[in-house]
Amino acid sequence: MTKYISPALTVMVAAARKAGRKLIRDYGEIENLQVSMKGPADFVSSADKRTELMLIEELQRVRPGYGFLTEEHGVIEGPDRTHRFIIDPIDGTTNFLHGIPHFAISIALEREQQMVSGLVFNPITDELYVAEKGHGAYLNDKRLRVAARKELNKTLLATGIPFLGRPGHETFSAELSAAMATTTGVRRFGAASLDLAYVAAGRFDAFWERGLQPWDVAAGILLVKEAGGVVTDLNGGTDTLTGGTILATNEHLHQSVLKLLKDAGKTAKH
Ligand code: IPD
Ligand code: CA
Ligand code: CA
Repeated sequence: MTKYISPALTVMVAAARKAGRKLIRDYGEIENLQVSMKGPADFVSSADKRTELMLIEELQRVRPGYGFLTEEHGVIEGPDRTHRFIIDPIDGTTNFLHGIPHFAISIALEREQQMVSGLVFNPITDELYVAEKGHGAYLNDKRLRVAARKELNKTLLATGIPFLGRPGHETFSAELSAAMATTTGVRRFGAASLDLAYVAAGRFDAFWERGLQPWDVAAGILLVKEAGGVVTDLNGGTDTLTGGTILATNEHLHQSVLKLLKDAGKTAKH
């Protein structure tokens, strides 16, 4: 299959690359700010907002009617009610803030409630993941395919750990214990969009997390599906965009990982 990029995805890629160049400069500033009294937190939150505005402006210029669902500016209605962009300007803000080069711009395009194009772009590593519904997923020019592993005891899992102010610590601890006892390892890299992209690329065998927002997962879900993977919520249902929970794996592992997490959840202390 030759790589197909729709005109809309071309526009999204151009916007992400432009915003990515600015993010690289901002990221360079962080190092200086780490040692200042005020610390870099305010700078990062304004970098977040600036990046998102730049993406919105770029996309609005070429697709003036489309709506938006964004992390920093919420819902922006457009006259065209059938299309909207879903944007996370920096997914992995805590990594960005701490000078860890693992964060991404995530943009998806939804048409009539269906995700049709998506990208996840790490400007530091220059890894650009794109997917077009029905046309596959790619990392730069390489076609992606989820891992083929079938046995749980050979898998590498990824997850997100709830933190200060987030619920679900007990449930997560029980799930992690179960995963630790049955797999070759569990990673917590800190950017859900990239976790999903890594599942699409076959680097991780599965990724699960609770407490996610549509902009964390919109593009990543399409990447995994177009790479031949399966994505459900943690009840095994289809509420993956707004339901807040997610499990992404290959088709062989999906039921066993789902059961592992479900059974673990039942044992959690509340
Ligand atoms: C966060 C990251 C992180 C996940 C959190 C998200 P942000 O997004 O995706 O991996 O564990 O739940 O909120 O705040 O860095 O855009
Ligand atoms: Ca995010
Ligand atoms: Ca963010």
